[in-house]
Amino acid sequence: MINEKKIIQEIKKFYWKKEPYIKQNWGNWFHSISAYVGRIKPAFAHWLIKIATKKNDVVLDPFCGVGTVLLECDLLDRNSIGIDLSDYAYRICLAKKDRGGLAKEIKYLNNIKLKYTKKISSVPEFVKEFYHPKTLKEIIELRDLFLKDKKDFLLGCLLGIIHGHRNQHLSMRTGYIIPYIPKPKPKIVYKNAVEKMKDKVTRMYKDEIKVKSKIKVLNQNVLEANLKDNSIDTIISSPPYYNTIDYVHANRLRLWFSGVDFDQQKKLSRELIQDRYTYEEEMTKVGRKLYKCLKKKSLLIFILGDVHFSKNNTVNTASVIEKIYLDIGFKKKALINDEIPANRTTIVKFKGQKALDKKKQKFDRILVMSK
Ligand SMILES: C[S@@+](CC[C@H](N)C(=O)[O-])C[C@H]1O[C@@H](n2cnc3c(N)ncnc32)[C@H](O)[C@@H]1O
Repeated sequence: MINEKKIIQEIKKFYWKKEPYIKQNWGNWFHSISAYVGRIKPAFAHWLIKIATKKNDVVLDPFCGVGTVLLECDLLDRNSIGIDLSDYAYRICLAKKDRGGLAKEIKYLNNIKLKYTKKISSVPEFVKEFYHPKTLKEIIELRDLFLKDKKDFLLGCLLGIIHGHRNQHLSMRTGYIIPYIPKPKPKIVYKNAVEKMKDKVTRMYKDEIKVKSKIKVLNQNVLEANLKDNSIDTIISSPPYYNTIDYVHANRLRLWFSGVDFDQQKKLSRELIQDRYTYEEEMTKVGRKLYKCLKKKSLLIFILGDVHFSKNNTVNTASVIEKIYLDIGFKKKALINDEIPANRTTIVKFKGQKALDKKKQKFDRILVMSK
């Protein structure tokens, strides 16, 4: 039997905001394989899992993004199932599961003999603009090789250095989270992709990581996923909230290298839950599905935020979801407000949204419900 009261008391202690968990880069290096807009902090996931679940439980994250909850579950000896429709997010989840070990990965990279036979004439201009032609040829050859040899970790690392502002990144100087063409356009220099990969792989293996992973990842629409009734011990997730983030546009370059061309990206954009007007309807369907697969008396924990549609129209998404999920049959256990430090700028403007008023308090809202 889970002790709901104790779990809620413990969540309210906000352990993730204390030392050493408060540190920006707390957590296993595998969390840093690649960037993702809207990713939750590993320490936050760590504490929610630690408090609300037990060893060997099955935890479901139906909107798992790059697998922060999944990796923390694994490190804490919980089994996990993650679902995300984004091919890029899925690739990074697979990378976090693939634990070949540093020596093996470096040996594989050392044995690569690039052929430079891949043609880049058909690569879209938007992609070409970021790279020296020789670097681009190398990236595409490596990408295809990793796919052929099922080197998930290496492919994840490649996507992780595909663009950014540091010397370790393969593109010209651009954003690490979101790619854009800077003005004036920086000089494009050749970067040796295999050498950069060796550096990246070595960085990711700075911490110890267990070889065996208990993560199951599904690259699907959550509404189509096959989840057994009454099989999940706890649901922990940070779902999208309304149209706050465009997960396709923000990840357009990494999605392209994951094999999703710009036409397919338009389709993906329509399929993801990120439309202001259909959001509540879609999340209702998700709620019904989650209710069925969750075990009786088990918890659903959602981390949600507020949406500022205009100056005087702020929507507390957690309260909206709470009402919808009460109708489905869930019981409310708590809605905990976790104040976000002012220096954390996670919100990306999207489709005519207003920028956040800096003076306004910002919160992560932790909604706890049970079946
Ligand atoms: C807030 S992000 C999750 C971030 C994640 N917690 C992390 O740390 O990486 C929400 C995710 O929901 C995914 N998503 C949106 N609609 C979906 C759907 N219908 N089926 C599956 N995934 C979906 C998006 O691709 C996005 O990765």
